[in-house]
Amino acid sequence: MRPVTLTTERLVLHVPDETDVDAITAACQDPEIPRWTTVPSPYTRTHAEDYVRLAAEWWADGSQTIWCAYRDGELVASIGLHHITEHASGGHAELGFWVAAPARGHGYIVEAARAVIDWAFHDLRLARLTWRAAVGNIPSARAARALGFRYEGLARQALTSERGREDGWSAGLLAADDSSPVDWPIL
Ligand SMILES: CC(C)(COP(=O)(O)OP(=O)(O)OC[C@H]1O[C@@H](n2cnc3c(N)ncnc32)[C@H](O)[C@@H]1OP(=O)(O)O)[C@@H](O)C(=O)NCCC(=O)NCCS
Repeated sequence: MRPVTLTTERLVLHVPDETDVDAITAACQDPEIPRWTTVPSPYTRTHAEDYVRLAAEWWADGSQTIWCAYRDGELVASIGLHHITEHASGGHAELGFWVAAPARGHGYIVEAARAVIDWAFHDLRLARLTWRAAVGNIPSARAARALGFRYEGLARQALTSERGREDGWSAGLLAADDSSPVDWPIL
């Protein structure tokens, strides 16, 4: 797959490269990122170097598409589609993201994710996106709800990471859905 740059009103989403290593390393020092994602902890510069190298490989083989989102030269978020799976009836993938601590609360992730979702449904022709989070991750759940994801349930001990096994919330968004937010029973 050829790397794609996405642009929104406030953000530019580009495929990570060596120029992002310092900013990614700095952002991933915030304990909330390894607390809720599969990002390793402690997080070193080598992790970021490996990540940008792998991101190029994932884009090339079409398994994952990762972006770094910048506003005015500052890294505000990382967002990606994971486990991209093709199917004759339209593929599927999982949406994942984090926002750098100083950039939280400004709606950047919803803005970035709208562009990614639009690209996933229209250019990649996916039929479905999944969102999953460790139970208790209210900010992530609210972001997913704002994007139009429908809550689908709690999968017991379904998430694995360096933290071990955890219960996971999951939600889905179909290409055919109206993406207006709907109520979630957990929020
Ligand atoms: C989850 C995360 C990306 C949200 O980023 P953010 O910048 O706060 O998101 P936004 O400003 O776009 O807000 C998204 C929603 O979360 C809500 N929110 C943000 N921080 C919140 C908090 N501390 N408690 C409750 N709700 C919160 C916002 O009000 C908004 O909901 P609304 O649209 O219903 O009002 C960010 O908190 C983060 O990076 N967390 C650590 C990594 C992580 O959890 N990644 C997701 C793994 S599944």
